[in-house]
Amino acid sequence: FSYPLPANEPVLNYGPGSAEKKRLKEVLALLKKEKADIPMYIGGKEVRTNKTQSIHPPHEIKHTLGHFHIGTEKHVQQAIDAALAAKDSWAAMSWEDRAGIFLKAADLIATKYRPYMNGTTMLGQSKNAYQAEIDAACEIVDFLRFNVHYLSEIYKQQPISGPGMHNRLEFRPLEGFVLAVTPFNFTAIGGNLPTSAAMCGNTVVWKPANTQVYSAQMFMRILQEAGLPDGVINLIYVDGPTLGKICFAHRDFTGVHFTGSTGVFNNMWETIGKNMGNYKTYPRIVGETGGKDFVVAHPSAKADVVATALLRGAFEFQGQKCSAASRAYIPSNLAEEVKKKLVAGIKSFKMGTVEDFTNFINAVIDEKSFDKIAAYIDNAKKDKKAEIWAGGKYDKSKGYFIQPTVIEAKDPKYVTMCEEIFGPVLTVYVYPEKKFEEVLELVDTTSPYALTGSIISTDRNAIALATDKLRNAAGNFYVNDKPTGAVVGQQPFGGARASGTNDKAGSILNLYRWLSPRTIKETF
Ligand code: ALA
Repeated sequence: FSYPLPANEPVLNYGPGSAEKKRLKEVLALLKKEKADIPMYIGGKEVRTNKTQSIHPPHEIKHTLGHFHIGTEKHVQQAIDAALAAKDSWAAMSWEDRAGIFLKAADLIATKYRPYMNGTTMLGQSKNAYQAEIDAACEIVDFLRFNVHYLSEIYKQQPISGPGMHNRLEFRPLEGFVLAVTPFNFTAIGGNLPTSAAMCGNTVVWKPANTQVYSAQMFMRILQEAGLPDGVINLIYVDGPTLGKICFAHRDFTGVHFTGSTGVFNNMWETIGKNMGNYKTYPRIVGETGGKDFVVAHPSAKADVVATALLRGAFEFQGQKCSAASRAYIPSNLAEEVKKKLVAGIKSFKMGTVEDFTNFINAVIDEKSFDKIAAYIDNAKKDKKAEIWAGGKYDKSKGYFIQPTVIEAKDPKYVTMCEEIFGPVLTVYVYPEKKFEEVLELVDTTSPYALTGSIISTDRNAIALATDKLRNAAGNFYVNDKPTGAVVGQQPFGGARASGTNDKAGSILNLYRWLSPRTIKETF
């Protein structure tokens, strides 16, 4: 079974008067009225408990979208049991049949449920229509279709045989259950982490961030409609320590597919390390974690290219993409012009709810995040080593709104140049235009992360130098572009250093991590 390289799912633009905009508006209105009662899904069954948590749009915190049921240790255990019970028949199912389920889910999203995936993502995670579309509609569909293609390429790879001998590679699933832990910032990551492992014949316990449950359960229902057998993916809502305590102590734990913070990922490694003697097999530990993504402008750069890369790269989805530009290095010859363009750009951004499609900026995800970001801004306002170029206001009376903010750091190691903030805050360091090479050294050594980064230049030698010197500073490196917006099949995504294991989501490399090949030699 060979599944050819698919085309990327086309991005709809939701322009004024468009049919897709009309339909999406209808679905948003329905979702806002519905008061969803969201169960966990264990062994294909809906599970409700006596403890619930309500869901509010981050941009309209007085409105309630519904609530979800919170599990305990018992539910984690049940999810593992369900995954293990489903394992043999799922692994034995033909690859063609497994693939059919995920391809059907992709089609269901692309055709029937697109406004629901977008609508739950817009309301639950405060993404505007365009940001939702490229994530909850297109990227998730791309992950499903491209991964089916990549896996069909893997299964085809066979060793040579010869007279008297038949050699085979059997791409077995891992032995045990896989844990998928997914973040709020991309619905598509919530779609990819459990399904890429499941596609390979594994069964999965999936825990999304509480702030992504609303869109996660929508995707789970679509998988069920597409025919996913009971227990292959079990969706539970529990806190991290409860999850870790049961999963990492389990003899059949065989791998974790994670996206989230570096701190949580480090704790996972430690816990898994401590339990190492208990497992049947060495667990696969695959994670994408933090970032402190950079944009370096060379003195030859055009100011408008720099400003556009920064305005879009730093502020789309309120700077909450793991790939978002959060530190910029601007040469002194361009500083005034770039500053003017950043100030004007930020002034032109409208901020508000997702239902008004003209709003470019919406709310940050929750109060904890809001308070953390606001504290960085407040400290910068008071600090002589920093100057606010634009933005700096915030207000949580109606929703968690933070104005896109640009801080100029007088010291290239100023705290907001180094630490991950995960919000609409960009820090700029203006360097003497003759010091480009020294700045590349700074970019490489200022943060422990290495996820994404950009060089903006019209000088090919400068581009070549930056590409060489920043070899290890970013897993996704962009030339004359913003550092965000990787597309499945086009820019395999992931970083190394403190940004993760760089197993490139949406690529053939990632799928190998969920397989354990057996070599079979037969002589005759
Ligand atoms: N794919 C996302 C981006 O590159 C993470 O922005």
